[in-house]
Amino acid sequence: MNLKELDDQYALGVYARRPIAFSYGQNARAFDEEGNDYIDFASGIGVNSIGYNNPRLTAAIAEQASKILHISNLYLNRNQAELAQTIARLSGMDTRTFFANSGAEANECAIKIARKYGEKSGRYEIITLQNSFHGRTIATLKATAQDKFHKHFGPFPDGFIYADDLDHAKKLIGERTIGVMVEIVQGEGGVVALDKDRLQRLARFLRERGLLLIADEIQCGVYRCGEFLASQIYDLKPDIFTLAKGLGGGAAIGAAVTTLKDTLTYGDHASTFGGNFLSTKAALTTLEVLEELRSSGALTQTIDYFDDQCRAIALRFPDLFTEVAGLGLMKAIAAKDGRKRDAIIDAAHENRLLVLRAGENRVRLLPPLTIAKEEIDEGFARFERACRET
Ligand SMILES: Cc1ncc(COP(=O)(O)O)c(C=O)c1O
Repeated sequence: MNLKELDDQYALGVYARRPIAFSYGQNARAFDEEGNDYIDFASGIGVNSIGYNNPRLTAAIAEQASKILHISNLYLNRNQAELAQTIARLSGMDTRTFFANSGAEANECAIKIARKYGEKSGRYEIITLQNSFHGRTIATLKATAQDKFHKHFGPFPDGFIYADDLDHAKKLIGERTIGVMVEIVQGEGGVVALDKDRLQRLARFLRERGLLLIADEIQCGVYRCGEFLASQIYDLKPDIFTLAKGLGGGAAIGAAVTTLKDTLTYGDHASTFGGNFLSTKAALTTLEVLEELRSSGALTQTIDYFDDQCRAIALRFPDLFTEVAGLGLMKAIAAKDGRKRDAIIDAAHENRLLVLRAGENRVRLLPPLTIAKEEIDEGFARFERACRET
């Protein structure tokens, strides 16, 4: 049986996988089992924030593996405590963190913090935005305001209502509302950066009423947009923010971070694997690399260069593209329609360039934050070939 047949026979068929089997990578290049190189503008959907085979991350994981991988949350864990401290320092907020294993789990914890915070006042409802994406567990699926994901899986828990936009969210706030949860840059929904003034106004409105702003920074956080948090770019201090994806540089980790430091207490929440030695070591090392990348100015340079290339290709193919959207290295190029978009993505893969979909008609680009100029140039050369063939 070849690999495709093996996968078809034994893995649940929930993914539409392309028949490419990767075996290793080097920064922004991934190599398949035949040794063909692909330029990676996708980072495993925003996960491989410091590229493949980063020597510091590889060494840190190997060293940790040689000592201890896991001990449970019944004992102190130096990596976990130091990672929580690092997150507080980088966010510039007085926070505590709960570690989970994925984005959806981090959001589950955020929802529990909000609900317990609102318990005394009888508030539990969370408002989310149309086209948001917050995860695939039953609660985070319900928080996800896209009906296409809900079919088959009800009944869902109560307590989520959907706003068309930020102004509508403000109007929906009622006596049961405990807060509003937003992706500052919507990812799956189309790489849509929320309007800064409107979001700041909403944040003020919530704060004045003792209600919560919850920022789902699972895709847009961890330097993806140029700062540790997209919230920092928007001058916002959310009461709760969640991280995952890029935080572990490829190791599975999620984090629910909050200034409500004492809302959840002993017995309220737990995770067997959450924040174990392996994932927290990977995250500490990833953040070290990213903090240096940011403070050296290299990240800003890469963002500017990548943005220029996105705009140049959109201009060169006016019959295919309408606009460039996004923030930092979270970018989308909008195609004229969904069919064209899908054809471009197929052609990109034929030309050995990894890109993603988002929304109805967008090609989403989430390169590793460490991507080199030469890798960007090669990626856009392949993108150009793909566009010409479409
Ligand atoms: C903004 C956002 N929130 C939550 C999630 C869910 O994360 P995970 O797939 O790790 O559960 C995602 C995943 O795409 C996401 O982009």
